[in-house]
Amino acid sequence: MRLLKSLILVLILSSNAYSQTNQITINLDSGNVVIDKNIYGHFAEHLGNCIYGGFWVGEDSKIPNTRGIRNDVIEAMKEINPPVIRWPGGCFADYYHWKDGIGPQEQRPTMINSSWGGVTEDNSFGTHEFLDLCELIGAEPYICINVGSGTVQEAADWVEYVNSANESPMTKLRKQNGREKPWNVKYWAVGNESWGCGGNMSPEYYADLFNRFSTFLRAGDLYKIASGGLPDDINWTSTVLDKTKRHSQLIDGYSYHYYTFAYGWNNKGSATAFSEKDWFATMYQTLQMRKSLADNISVMDKLDPENKIGLIADEWGNWFEVEPGTNPGFLYQQNTIRDAVTAAVYLNIFNNNARRVKMANIAQTINVLQAMLLTKDEKIVKTPTFYVFKMYKVHQDAALLPIKVECSNYEFNGQKLPSITASASKDANGKIHISLANIDPKKDSKIEISLSGKNDLKFSKGEIITSANMNDFNDFDKEEKVNISEFNDFDFKRNKLSVNMPSKSVVTIELN
Ligand code: AHR
Repeated sequence: MRLLKSLILVLILSSNAYSQTNQITINLDSGNVVIDKNIYGHFAEHLGNCIYGGFWVGEDSKIPNTRGIRNDVIEAMKEINPPVIRWPGGCFADYYHWKDGIGPQEQRPTMINSSWGGVTEDNSFGTHEFLDLCELIGAEPYICINVGSGTVQEAADWVEYVNSANESPMTKLRKQNGREKPWNVKYWAVGNESWGCGGNMSPEYYADLFNRFSTFLRAGDLYKIASGGLPDDINWTSTVLDKTKRHSQLIDGYSYHYYTFAYGWNNKGSATAFSEKDWFATMYQTLQMRKSLADNISVMDKLDPENKIGLIADEWGNWFEVEPGTNPGFLYQQNTIRDAVTAAVYLNIFNNNARRVKMANIAQTINVLQAMLLTKDEKIVKTPTFYVFKMYKVHQDAALLPIKVECSNYEFNGQKLPSITASASKDANGKIHISLANIDPKKDSKIEISLSGKNDLKFSKGEIITSANMNDFNDFDKEEKVNISEFNDFDFKRNKLSVNMPSKSVVTIELN
């Protein structure tokens, strides 16, 4: 009897530590889809302090800068290998007139930034400054054209100004403004959220407009991206793709936006003062993207069976209430370990859909929404999300390895979600990287990973992002709470990897 009691106790204790063993299978032999490095892209809009105070302080600032761009930001961004940056919006793009942002800065006209706080935009950061920034941090530029309130001629002129090597009034102007050689920008979006802030259009009207604009964007080897609808608006997707793909030379990519609001647009929840209920709701909303993405991809597969049109997830991330006391139009929010975990969930989903997803741009790079960096005067903070991008950069341009995850649930108040998401890839040197996210804020997880296929892997190392409390964040003038540290709580024997994952953590293991 006593023996039986002790046995039951051991069973209870072990089931508390690791709720259930999770099984993951990875096939090492079948990686024939590349995870486009552009999935690790960024988005920088003229919104709040993303551009002004974030990237740009101007040459005369006492904050150290290179031609007006903050040096600390350049250095930090280089750490995460940013492949591409989308600019100037967002909603801002559809009322931005690019000619106001070239020439001597003191002579540039001002405008009102009507979506974002109604503040005066002085246009000191324009085309040349953005393209200089991209060159400084080693990212490809991605420009969104004004379709909502601009003209076809204005758009065609912009592409010619930026990309043409021939003699023309536009290229003469570019040279007068100090740039001899064209920049050869490849990625161009034709409008942003044209169903909403970009002009409240119908899909039929937008598709015709897309075809018209796209016809006249001619200078250079362009990748032209059409505006998507709301994430669940499959009618928008099928109408726009059907009407644009008839002219295959006009469309290369189709944009898709997905944001996580804890409880929806009218109840976004706080970025830092949240309970487990809010944590669960945030994970739930994030995981819901799987369905909406799959629905959009299945329409694309039907209308573009040769997989020529890329799905461009050019806005994604967590959208919470602004920090108390900040301008509501500036969308400034802090960033906790919860953001790190959801970033990993998003990136695992994009990696696993790399056959169709050719770019993704987290919203937004600095001081806006789910930012990489926060700045306050001369100070800078690297957020938990920054560290996920740093950890996950190993997947850029690596071959996606098919993965099967069978896991226990994260349960809260009778509701359930899969507790683990994962993705894996093989890089050009044959190194395998397996990334795992444990979304449960309380329970650790034991994960058994079987590697099938040819395998002479020997060496292994791991990295982890986690924190003691689910609301932990990095703040100005304080020691960092959330960062990357070495991770050793796993065992690797030939084709079996056994990982003990702490609650609310993101782990990447390298096998070589
Ligand atoms: O990222 C903030 C805004 O969200 C963008 O300007 C817009 O495209 C989207 O609705």
